[in-house]
Amino acid sequence: MKNMESKTNKNIITIDGPAGSGKSTIAKLIAKDIGLNYIDTGAMYRAITLIALENNIDLEDEQSILKKMEDYTIRLDYNASDPDKYTNIYLNDRDVTMDIRSKEVGEAVSIVSKLSGVRKFLVSLQRKLSSEKACVLEGRDTGSVVCPDALCKIYLTANIDERVERRKKQLNDYKQNPDIRQIKEEIESRDKIDSTRKDSPLIVPENAHIVDTTGMSVEQVFNKIKDIYYKELEYNK
Ligand code: DC
Repeated sequence: MKNMESKTNKNIITIDGPAGSGKSTIAKLIAKDIGLNYIDTGAMYRAITLIALENNIDLEDEQSILKKMEDYTIRLDYNASDPDKYTNIYLNDRDVTMDIRSKEVGEAVSIVSKLSGVRKFLVSLQRKLSSEKACVLEGRDTGSVVCPDALCKIYLTANIDERVERRKKQLNDYKQNPDIRQIKEEIESRDKIDSTRKDSPLIVPENAHIVDTTGMSVEQVFNKIKDIYYKELEYNK
């Protein structure tokens, strides 16, 4: 029996998985449908990576990055009425929503997200945000580290070719047009770093539902996850 004394947090859904597995598309649709906040944790790691790059800080120089972070506040602003849009993300009052999707940030973010001090800072911010309003958290460690007691934990995956195609479409939406080979290399490199790093590697969280989305439409994945969520709600009543 899973539930009698469980401390399940009914206000949280977590969606983790490798790059290009469709997490953000689904997380935003689920958030909108159920009326939850959406927290894109990857955007936070990207924002800190942008800080390091713009200040010419060595990406492995944890102390200098942590020191520089003191000059900034990170704010996420999710517009539920338009789930096609990314969360707007601000560093102080500057809107960096587009800047954090650049090729440079994409190539550097896995290095910065290995740093334990950066992770500690962001995990604490993510826990604070998720305690303020019921939400969908999306990332690599949201069900394993940030909110292991979440009601509904999803691990999304798909085969590499499909993930490459999805990432290409996503980048095209952002007016970037990298070739398939380049995207595949970046995804494979990020998968490797994200799942082998020492601190909070990408893993299937305990009690997570694994959803392999290869060959599934967005609508099919959306319906499957909603179904899992309502079953968990019922089970944890
Ligand atoms: O989801 P994304 O591609 O925007 O994530 C960018 C990177 O951030 C990803 O390669 C690893 C890191 N990340 C992380 O380490 N932990 C998270 N919870 C979310 C993202």
